[in-house]
Amino acid sequence: MSSYTPFRKIFKDVSLEVEDLYLLESFQIEMLPGTADRDLAVVLWAYPSIKHFLVKKCPSVVDLIESILKQYSPAEDEQELKKCSDNLVWTIADWLVYSKCPEAYDKLDFHSWDFREVTIITPLDGRVVVDGAAGTGRVTLEAARTAGRVYAIEPVARLRQFIRDKALEAFLNNIFVIDGFLHAMPLPDNCADVLVTSHALGWHLEKELREFERVVKKGGYIIHCPGTADIPDEEAQHLRLISPDWGYDFSVYEESDGWKGKYWKQL
Ligand SMILES: C[S@@+](CC[C@H](N)C(=O)[O-])C[C@H]1O[C@@H](n2cnc3c(N)ncnc32)[C@H](O)[C@@H]1O
Repeated sequence: MSSYTPFRKIFKDVSLEVEDLYLLESFQIEMLPGTADRDLAVVLWAYPSIKHFLVKKCPSVVDLIESILKQYSPAEDEQELKKCSDNLVWTIADWLVYSKCPEAYDKLDFHSWDFREVTIITPLDGRVVVDGAAGTGRVTLEAARTAGRVYAIEPVARLRQFIRDKALEAFLNNIFVIDGFLHAMPLPDNCADVLVTSHALGWHLEKELREFERVVKKGGYIIHCPGTADIPDEEAQHLRLISPDWGYDFSVYEESDGWKGKYWKQL
């Protein structure tokens, strides 16, 4: 789960405030309980309108939110409220930055990994490519320069618009940006030649891996550059990907902050 400390450094030019919580998408609100519950409770006690917004936008969290409010009491003073508000927004800073200032996310150094890491596995020329969890569209735009069509799947509305704007600026008319999740892609069976994910995998790993194999044609490629080093959670993901059940090949590639794992398979 996100920790506020690295985000303060990563997004040092960004300012976040409690009202930015109104930018959350319903799938993010669903993941909010369990993230920073004490801070969340203090904020919701102080700002009932934010609580209303969260439960209206994502009704399934109502019971969890009520139980967090029962567990924690309101702030004792303004200083405590300020501290909890600040902790909360910086704990989920990535989610807020996606919608508040996608350009700040787009500028991060990690985007500069060499896209030939994908094209040495398979050329994209004239192909139908899917960029799953497309973010600000780094992979989408790189792919669209040679691919026939690129479908960018991204659940955050502001990011989808950001990709569309970038495509327009770059005169790329072969990019189709669609709302969706890795585990539920609004695409027909066997429609893609290549599916790529970058810095995005494992919210629902097994469902996602099945979904990729539904969408990609026989003979097509699935390529993941999750940008992860080997911390325990991701070690489990690594073992699953290379297991005989899923059969991904594995190698490493370099990003701005070190070596990362890369996974791919041909169906
Ligand atoms: C760390 S960013 C990576 C974005 C982009 N692929 C890149 O390399 O910059 C993760 C992205 O996944 C999106 N996301 C979060 N949960 C998702 C899910 N379950 N399915 C698809 N995308 C998801 C987020 O909105 C965000 O844009």
